[in-house]
Amino acid sequence: MTPPSGPVGSAAVKRVLVTGRLPAGGLNPLEGAPDIEVVQSPIDEPLTHAQLVAAVAEGIGGIVCLITDRIDAEVLAAGAGRLRVVANVAVGYDNIDVAAATKAGVVVCNTPGILDETTADLAFALALAAARRGSEAEADLRAGRWAGWGINQYLGQDIHGATLGLVGFGGIGQAVGRRGAGFGMEVLHHTRHPTGKPGWVGDLHELLRRADVVSLHVPLGEATRHLIGPEELAVMKPTAVLVNTSRGPVVDEAALAEALHGGQIFAAGLDVYEAEPAVHPRLLTAPNTVLLPHIGTATVATRTAMAQLAATAVRRVLAGELPENTVNPEAF
Ligand code: GLV
Repeated sequence: MTPPSGPVGSAAVKRVLVTGRLPAGGLNPLEGAPDIEVVQSPIDEPLTHAQLVAAVAEGIGGIVCLITDRIDAEVLAAGAGRLRVVANVAVGYDNIDVAAATKAGVVVCNTPGILDETTADLAFALALAAARRGSEAEADLRAGRWAGWGINQYLGQDIHGATLGLVGFGGIGQAVGRRGAGFGMEVLHHTRHPTGKPGWVGDLHELLRRADVVSLHVPLGEATRHLIGPEELAVMKPTAVLVNTSRGPVVDEAALAEALHGGQIFAAGLDVYEAEPAVHPRLLTAPNTVLLPHIGTATVATRTAMAQLAATAVRRVLAGELPENTVNPEAF
C-alpha cells in the first residue's frame, strides 16, 4: 500500500481503500471528489486477511470491498476512529460482520437491484443447461466421444410447461419467475412470511415436492445454511433440477453430490460452492451437473454498475449522507 500522502486522518482528505481492480469506470464516482484519496490494492488478487488489516490501519475512512474479503471485527478494529463505511460490490454481504460493524458505527452498503436481471439470466441458463444435459453432451463432443445422432441420447427434461419453485422471492427470485412465466411454467415461491402474491407456498417441503425446477434465491445466514440438505433432496422429484446462484453454503454439497450420484434428483446447475474456489470432488464427477465458477453477475455492464454503486455509497457516507443501499442504517 502507498503511505498516506497527508496527515493520517486529516479532516480534509478521506482515504478510501479499494481492495481489488474494478471494471473500467467503476471508480468514477470517487475519482472527481477533491476530498477523497483512492488507495488501490497493489495486487490483482484477493488481499490476505493480514494485508487487509494492515491496509485498513493506514488511516482508511471507507472501503470498497469484494466478496472475497472477510470484513470482521479485526478489520473493523484496524479502522477504529476513522473507518465510516464499507461498501461490498455484491448484493450478498455474508462476508461482512454486520453486527460488529454496527457496534463500531461503520455503515455497510451493498449493491441490490442492479444485478437482478443479469443473475436471473444465469440462473435460467443453468436451469436450461442442466435439464438438457448440456455440459455432459458438450464434454462428450469435445472429447471425440460422440459417434453421431441417436434417438435415445442425452434425453433430458422439458423446462417449458414445467413447475418452477423459487426459494426466496427478492429481486433476483422475481426476475427468474418472470423468465419462467415466459417459458409457460407454473411459478411457485417459498418465503418464510406470506408475500401476498400468487404462487406463495408456506411450506418448503411442499414446494420441493411440487417443483420440477428449484431455484435458490435466499441470502446466506444462520437460517439458510444447509437449507437444502438430505431431507429436502429426498422430497424432490427424481426428475427435478436444482439451481443455485445464491451462496454455496445454502446447499449441503456432500448431500447434493450423493443425491445426484444416486439418481435421487435429475440434475443440478450450480454457480456457487460451499468453500470457493474448492468444489466438492463428488460434485465434479456427478452426472447431469453444470458447474460454473460464480459468474452470476459477470457482465461488463452489471459489474461496472455494481462497482459504481458501491463507490457512490462510500462517497455519500463520507459526505454525511445515508445511501438507500445501506444494510445497517442504525450505524449511521
Ligand atoms: C454476488 O455474488 C453478489 O452477491 O452480488
